[in-house]
Order: sequence, then C-alpha cells, then structure tokens
Amino acid sequence: MIPSALLEELNRQLNRELYSAYLYLSMASYFEERGLNGFAHWFKLQAKEELEHAMKFYNYIHERGGHVEFYPIQEPASNWDNITGLVKSALEHEKEITRHINHLIDLARKLDDKPTEVFLYWFITEQVEEEKAFQELLQVLEYAGETPQTVLMLNAKLAQRK
Ligand SMILES: [Fe+2]
Ligand SMILES: [Fe+2]
Repeated sequence: MIPSALLEELNRQLNRELYSAYLYLSMASYFEERGLNGFAHWFKLQAKEELEHAMKFYNYIHERGGHVEFYPIQEPASNWDNITGLVKSALEHEKEITRHINHLIDLARKLDDKPTEVFLYWFITEQVEEEKAFQELLQVLEYAGETPQTVLMLNAKLAQRK
C-alpha cells in the first residue's frame, strides 16, 4: 500500500500532468489560430506526451492498489503577448513540475516507499528533456529576436517533430 500522504501527492501529480496537457493544447490552439501549423503540431504532440505522463501515474496508483482521485483540472491561460512570452511561461511551468517531482521523491524517501521512489526516477530524466526543449526554443527566440524570419524558420523546424 502507498502511504496515504504520498498517495494524495501522486494523485495531485496525475492532475498536474492532465493540466499540462490542457496547457499545451491551449498553446497549440494559439498557433492554430495564427496559421503557424508547425508550432501547433509540436504543441499537440507535447500535450499527448503529458497525457501519457498522466497515464503513468494512473497505472502506477492502480498497480499499487491505490485509489485514483479525479480533481478538477485548472483552466489554462489562452492568450500570450507573443511567442517568446508563451515559451517563457511553458518553461516556467516545466520548472514548477520538476520541483513537484523532486518534492514527491523527498516524500517517498521520508515515508520509505522505495517502489514509488524508483517509479519517479523516470520523471527526473524526462524533466531534464522537457526543460531543455523549451530552453532551446527560448534561446533561439531571444538570440535571433522574434522576427517573421525566426518564427517561420522555427515553424518549419517544429513541423518535423515525430
Ligand atoms: Fe509531464
Ligand atoms: Fe512536461
């Protein structure tokens, strides 16, 4: 059995992963409305990945005989001043998720739940990738400036995400 304080936090994290999917879908929509289909494609795949993260928590809680709680999903922002601002808020969001994962691992250790600790390791590696993806996007936008050329170059590049 997962200790109850840890189970609650795992359920909260499941909800945060669903919120992440919601947020990236909202960002995809922002690009869709502006005809930037490459960006929209990239953010839709990002949303899909977040759903997969949520499912990892869902499956893990059930594997351990825990009860999955369904909390309301927070409404994501739907407008940003510009693309740079959008990417900055996505990076901030990922950093916040990383803090939550770290906190979850601390809690699993404190409550001596080794399977949960090991389960969470995957997310440590994943968060490095997540932060890196947005950091790189932000670096290009800040280095080259958010000009039409930069945006169209990135739009073509992001369209290629598999
Ligand atoms: Fe995630
Ligand atoms: Fe993420």
